[in-house]
Amino acid sequence: MRFVIINGPNLNLIGTRSPEIYGSTTLQELDDACRGWAAEVGSEVETFQSNHEGDIIDRLHAACDADGVVINPGAFTHYSYAIRDAIDAIGIPTVEVHISNVRDREPWRRISVVSEVCVATIFGRGVLGYRDGVRHLTARAAWPVETITYGPDADNVGDLRIPRGEGPHPVAVLIHGGFWRNTAARDLLDMAAVDLTRRGWATWNIEFVRVGSGGGWRATTNDVALAVSSLGDFADGHELDLDRVVLIGHGSGGHLALQAAAGIREVPIAAVAALAPIGDLQAAHDAGVGNGAVEAFMRRTPDQSPERHAAASPIKNLPIGVPLLIVHGDEDELIPVAISRSFAGRAADDGDTVIYHELEGVGHDALVNPASAAWEKVVDEIDRLR
Ligand code: DQA
Repeated sequence: MRFVIINGPNLNLIGTRSPEIYGSTTLQELDDACRGWAAEVGSEVETFQSNHEGDIIDRLHAACDADGVVINPGAFTHYSYAIRDAIDAIGIPTVEVHISNVRDREPWRRISVVSEVCVATIFGRGVLGYRDGVRHLTARAAWPVETITYGPDADNVGDLRIPRGEGPHPVAVLIHGGFWRNTAARDLLDMAAVDLTRRGWATWNIEFVRVGSGGGWRATTNDVALAVSSLGDFADGHELDLDRVVLIGHGSGGHLALQAAAGIREVPIAAVAALAPIGDLQAAHDAGVGNGAVEAFMRRTPDQSPERHAAASPIKNLPIGVPLLIVHGDEDELIPVAISRSFAGRAADDGDTVIYHELEGVGHDALVNPASAAWEKVVDEIDRLR
């Protein structure tokens, strides 16, 4: 596959331009990194930067035979209908990327006139956003995907992939991590979704409101419940087997999966696979995970509102009542494995059926990365849940 990476005005200055916002990577280093990220997925990239609107439009037109475009239009993002029209006109899957968290800066940066014609918008992940853009385009090309709206918010969408062969198909609902923050999105689970679909699962990779874009404990939990319940609306048309729905959550998504399993009645949940989950909010808060993530999600510390934290914490709401698969790497650098160790023990003591695996030498992201050895173990166990 061949992708084109386009950077707009002032991005030639990254490395020295406001490094506290854009980091220290130079454009040359970024272009080299993009070539490496594309090679990882067996693809090639061409890179292009310009400070001129017309040149960017010409480059987009010339990209009409590429397999995808990753574009950071810089400040043009916020007002260039000409660039928007060009993206729309070429009809090539295009990912919008911003190095900084544009939702967390001046109000005018929250406006993007190009988002609507892009297949995904990635922001606030530093230059890794370009890597994730390349990965997203790769996943889109790897397996057909239908994006379905399940609710009124712009974030109430999910990606449905249907496996080959005759249905009804078991359903894996994928709930991404990222400490409930808006800089993380469902593209983080694209590759896992594609691999599960290849193995015969229908995958429903859901988005939901997150902290920084209307999310927080109640709103986010409500969205996840709505996304899962909405399976009932399109199950028939897509040959989904609603008696075999498994929730798979990673990190903070593991927290959401455990909560949802305990709360959802509209669709029976056959099992939860919680991968490096935050099963205990108090313990996660005490360990300082995600740089204040628990407090931001709950909008209170556990001390300020113990009841609220108890209501939202899986370990305080045991038994969950469905079979649990819990997997955690013992070298997880983001969420301490000790949280899962005690969560799994407590869940089993309180009557849940629990399979618990602690994977030696494995970190956080490997659990959802099909290129890792850890994924083989994870997916073997998930396959047993169908
Ligand atoms: C940017 C954000 C824009 O608001 C800004 O004008 C840029 C860079 C980013 O990558 O974060 O030039 O697109």
